Amino acid sequence: MKAVQISRYGAANVLELNQDAPKAVSGKEQVLIEVHAASINPIDWKVRTGYMKDAVPFTMPATLGGDCCGVVAALGESVSGFKVGDRVYGYASLLSGGSGSFAEFVAAKSGTLALAPRNVGVVDAAALPLVGASAVQAIGEHIKLQRGQKILIHGGAGGIGSVAIQLAKSIGAHVATTASAEDKAYVKELGADEVIDYKSEAFEEKFHDLDAVFDTVGGPTTEKSFKVLKKEGTLVTMLGQPDAGLAEQHGVMAIGQLTHVTTEVLKRLAQLVDTGAVKVHIHKVFPLDQVKEAFELVENGRPRGKVVLQIKRG
Ligand SMILES: NC(=O)c1ccc[n+]([C@@H]2O[C@H](COP(=O)([O-])OP(=O)(O)OC[C@H]3O[C@@H](n4cnc5c(N)ncnc54)[C@H](OP(=O)(O)O)[C@@H]3O)[C@@H](O)[C@H]2O)c1
Repeated sequence: MKAVQISRYGAANVLELNQDAPKAVSGKEQVLIEVHAASINPIDWKVRTGYMKDAVPFTMPATLGGDCCGVVAALGESVSGFKVGDRVYGYASLLSGGSGSFAEFVAAKSGTLALAPRNVGVVDAAALPLVGASAVQAIGEHIKLQRGQKILIHGGAGGIGSVAIQLAKSIGAHVATTASAEDKAYVKELGADEVIDYKSEAFEEKFHDLDAVFDTVGGPTTEKSFKVLKKEGTLVTMLGQPDAGLAEQHGVMAIGQLTHVTTEVLKRLAQLVDTGAVKVHIHKVFPLDQVKEAFELVENGRPRGKVVLQIKRG
């Protein structure tokens, strides 16, 4: 089968489209999916550079990719809840017990999959799993955001931020977000009530007593976020573990989230998409043989919306 693989860690030039990779096989508790589309997340280029190589060394050649949407081709032992022919979406990276989704077939743990949203096509569904699950987990499970509360979402124009803004608005919260000036109209269209240009304005001087901050940026942004929260407010960051001392000093709860793309979260996400609460934004779709260009766009091109590889049409 065709698969996007690396034989060593490095820049985009280490990406190879192998025309003759061994076809993935569904093992115990795994589902074999014929992949129709797969989207690229920042983690895909980070692992390509070797960012996780000490924690999870890859056996080379390694197939990249996690997000996917496709059709169930076979079921491994002990799988329930799916049948051959179901259109599913989910996460199948080597880091999550899958075989890598930038390929014609992928094996995924059944617990990282769900039936795809009914009202969108395969490209939109493939764009959702990691960013959507991240937003649902942070806002629904950690922050437990309520109608009328005030939240600041850092990186509102990004993959996670764009879903988070829509989800927070659908709950009835007041949403402030940080984004670059060029993305102001885009995040307003997503539903943001207030937009801070992160390059020219200091959000930490503008806000105080917020109920929650959802940080998809990290670094100094995380540290500065403590002071805009009210006592007993919640900070969730997608990048690393927040400073426990600062959390105690400010009397807030601070969580470093590791996203788990689970069947339950994907089902909730599919409902949000099918009811129109969350719309998917696609920047560009590439065929598999333009995978290097697609990675370059995600890494350096500041896409407004997701970048998706279309692997099979129809
Ligand atoms: N912990 C986990 O389990 C987990 C899971 C998924 C993702 N992540 C991480 O979460 C991060 C976000 O993921 P994503 O998919 O949303 O990335 P993304 O699509 O690249 O979005 C990042 C956004 O942040 C904006 N940004 C950059 N610096 C900023 C600043 N100082 N203030 C405000 N906005 C800023 C960028 O805007 P510009 O274009 O203007 O720079 C971009 O719109 C990534 O680092 C990813 O690796 C972690």
